Amino acid sequence: MKKIISVCRGDGVGPEVVNEGVKVLKIVSGYTELDFEFKEAPAGGEVWKKFGSNLPEQSFETIKNSDALLFGALGLPDLPFGVAESAIMKIRQGLDLYVNLRPIKLYDVLREKCPLKDEFIGSGIDITFVRENTEGLYKNVGSIDENSAQNLMLYTRKGCERIIKYAFEFAKKKGHSKVTSVDKANLLKTSQLWRKIFQEIGENYPKIQKEDIYVDAFCQWLIRAPYKFQTVVTGNMFGDIISDEGAFLIGSLGMGSSGNINPGKVSMYEPIHGSAPDIAGKGIANPIGTILSVKLMLQESFHSHEIGNEVDKAVEEALKEGRTVDVKSEKLKTLSTEGMGDLIAEKLKNRLIK
Ligand code: NAI
Ligand code: MG
Repeated sequence: MKKIISVCRGDGVGPEVVNEGVKVLKIVSGYTELDFEFKEAPAGGEVWKKFGSNLPEQSFETIKNSDALLFGALGLPDLPFGVAESAIMKIRQGLDLYVNLRPIKLYDVLREKCPLKDEFIGSGIDITFVRENTEGLYKNVGSIDENSAQNLMLYTRKGCERIIKYAFEFAKKKGHSKVTSVDKANLLKTSQLWRKIFQEIGENYPKIQKEDIYVDAFCQWLIRAPYKFQTVVTGNMFGDIISDEGAFLIGSLGMGSSGNINPGKVSMYEPIHGSAPDIAGKGIANPIGTILSVKLMLQESFHSHEIGNEVDKAVEEALKEGRTVDVKSEKLKTLSTEGMGDLIAEKLKNRLIK
């Protein structure tokens, strides 16, 4: 059956990297039983300049009526911060995308690009962060005046249960043997409720090991022994911070992928980087973050695990032959955004017709 993919290219390098994501989806559409149709859903700074809205109603309608959204990045240097970017929150909240999924995988071929010493990389880095995406401090409930400011860190049982359950199901699907929960239960009441629910839900997964770690300790474990972690579930703000720390371990910001997910409903897949105005228009952005976001889309929205894994392997093969400048190697050819996308698409095609 035909699946509709809404496409928001956005600003800066967004359109450049999304082109390569669409390229990969077209290969999947052409060589597997999946069949995709693409519908444009413009949003962001350029759109705001033209229409006075960063997310025109028509775009949101297109997104709502699609099966999944492929998203680039928003933000323009000549606009005040937020004018373009707030469209992302509108989409996340409008679609109740309560799961933020962020895999951090260091390909063996990129080991020398990891800022950690080899002994700390150990057996390798392959972690998936499952971050709560709708509650906590970022719900923006609070006040500010000259002398004080406050934000409410509210977590509900429903909010904790659904994200923790998702994390365990994800771990089960991936064959992970452990789920790590990151909190601050020694100080925060919200974390105490979170930890209780983590234990409760964990009981339904007897084969999976459960581990609780305080967020401050986790930050050092993540660089000291990242190989220890598989699925990591955490709240909204902690997840924001530790997943950015993790993203730096895989060689380049341009490699990081993510999903903003409401299981079974329309979900949004995007690279973790922004619009990168410093390199926009030069054709040098790394498209792999977007292509790995496509992998997530295939696996999480279209339940095509095998095909997703083929995308992953195609990326790994391509990295052995060519690189964009951010992960460049003396021994390999340096490719443009388009060149890298072409190479991955070719590798994928060869894998799919085998
Ligand atoms: P950024 O992620 O755009 O760039 C940070 C650094 O990483 C820059 O040096 C950039 O050249 C490099 N980089 C980013 N993507 C890359 C890629 N694919 N390949 C190679 N190098 C890459 O973050 P920055 O500079 O803080 O923000 C720029 C704009 O993006 C701002 O307007 C910001 O608000 C927005 N932003 C949007 C996000 C989104 O749409 N989800 C997320 C983060 C920032
Ligand atoms: Mg962040």
